[in-house]
Amino acid sequence: MREGLLKGKKGVIFGALNEKSIAWQVALKAHEQGAELVLTNSPVALRLGTISELARITGSTVIAADATRMEDIENLLTESMKIFGGQFDFILHSIGMSPNVRKDIPYEQTSYENMLKTFDISALSFHRVLQTAYKLDALKEWGSVVALSYVAAQRTLSGYNDMGDAKALLESIARSFGYIYGRDRRVRINTVSQSPTPTTAGSGIHGFDSLVDFSERMSPLGNATAEECADYCISLFSDLTRKVTMQNLFHDGGFSSMGMSIKAIEQYQKSFEECDCDEKEKEEAKAGGARH
Ligand SMILES: NC(=O)c1ccc[n+]([C@@H]2O[C@H](COP(=O)([O-])OP(=O)(O)OC[C@H]3O[C@@H](n4cnc5c(N)ncnc54)[C@H](O)[C@@H]3O)[C@@H](O)[C@H]2O)c1
Repeated sequence: MREGLLKGKKGVIFGALNEKSIAWQVALKAHEQGAELVLTNSPVALRLGTISELARITGSTVIAADATRMEDIENLLTESMKIFGGQFDFILHSIGMSPNVRKDIPYEQTSYENMLKTFDISALSFHRVLQTAYKLDALKEWGSVVALSYVAAQRTLSGYNDMGDAKALLESIARSFGYIYGRDRRVRINTVSQSPTPTTAGSGIHGFDSLVDFSERMSPLGNATAEECADYCISLFSDLTRKVTMQNLFHDGGFSSMGMSIKAIEQYQKSFEECDCDEKEKEEAKAGGARH
């Protein structure tokens, strides 16, 4: 990668819990490329995670903010502007949580309280951040905002539960606000749809290891790692992508364009020899464990 792509730029990074987090890798790369950062996460994540280590490595300030609380977001962006000495250049939204996924509650048995929480944390928080940044005029002209998404926004993937709906909403918010922010302030807004990645949030998905294996077999370039995702995010924060906005950009080794690959079909054939999958599915459904 070219050196100093973010030299002189300043940004706020949401969602670095520990070194597996995609946001952690983005923060490391942004720092390497010359950016000055403010790191943020929810108060509970600050207690349980290791963000202070990342702050030490990158020389950043950490500010607690629960992304579902408007006053926290307002305080975060106001304080960040004080630290940066005014407007700044980029924001990474790397936040996701579903009580249904966490508690293993199937999609068809959700309570709407759980579902609203999923949407609030994983999608509406993005609107909240954009609305506050817009109101405070926090972002410089040609600034860039990126949120992380997943292909379950377009296609149903067993086990991803209401996070698929949350990601569809997240991507729609990027388009709706992308129009307004681009038109009024020349700020671009995109989502990056990343391969399954072994992080704390990712590993919470039912059948995650199989999902990783399946995506790997289906993607001509293989799954994208968190580090590779970070490289892509850096390019979107840099001046090399000024006219890219309102897009959902797949960073998934080609998975989203595939129907079937030789590697996947070979495994599928083998499984026919080894397992009676119809029977297995029926048994799971009977046990109330069929998750959609
Ligand atoms: N891991 C994957 O397979 C994968 C694939 C595609 C997209 N993504 C997306 O990438 C993003 C980052 O997830 P990750 O995989 O790095 O996992 P992660 O668990 O490291 O990060 C999720 C973050 O969300 C934060 N968060 C949860 N509730 C919050 C709240 N109320 N306020 C503020 N922050 C809150 C957590 O503290 C955590 O830091 C998420 O949007 C996720 O959906 C992940």
